[in-house]
Amino acid sequence: MARLFLDTANVEEIREATRWGILDGVTTNPTLMMRAGTADLKANTLKIVDLVQGPVSAEVVATDAGGMIEEARKILSWSEHVFVKIPCTAEGLKAIREISTWPNGRVNATLIFSPTQAYLVAKAGASYASIFVGRMDDAGLDGMEVVRQTRDIFDNYGFHCQLLAASIRHTAHVVDALLAGADIITLPFGVLQKMIRSPFTDVGLERFLADWEKVAGG
Ligand code: G3P
Repeated sequence: MARLFLDTANVEEIREATRWGILDGVTTNPTLMMRAGTADLKANTLKIVDLVQGPVSAEVVATDAGGMIEEARKILSWSEHVFVKIPCTAEGLKAIREISTWPNGRVNATLIFSPTQAYLVAKAGASYASIFVGRMDDAGLDGMEVVRQTRDIFDNYGFHCQLLAASIRHTAHVVDALLAGADIITLPFGVLQKMIRSPFTDVGLERFLADWEKVAGG
């Protein structure tokens, strides 16, 4: 079953989505923390963990392997639900290789824009490979093709790394990611709201209620 994550650090959005009973996890990043107006990564991450009781990703800000590993050690100690986000760079690969040997080494490899990057992070031991579909589309590329090719590569060689479709911009991205076989889709709250609603549902419901009122109303 494809899992659905919210791509936000906003606790109120997460609280609301957990009430709908379909949320499996959350991904955050420094930009999302800035939008949520907090620099307290630990407190905010733990609030989110409390709400979802599932995987919650928090990102390092160091750019050298040593610094990433040091930050990862702290971040991963906060909760068994926390995954550490490490960018796909040469330093990031070194860090992923090291962290994934730890018993609690849950890595979400991030900022992935090609099947070769996805292959490398999987080889290094990442648990998730986050492919940024929307940012590629923004640049005139076909982001979903990277998801499709990565799916084939992971399947061809039996990689355990989960394919995470990120940078989702609209509901068509969600459908395409599901058809492409993404293991996880992380999406903004606004896209999740749009997945639920259809004007046809609203009109249909209105008509049912009006007709019921005619036959059963006083
Ligand atoms: O979680 C990271 C990714 O989803 C970023 O999305 O909208 O900043 O391209 P976006």
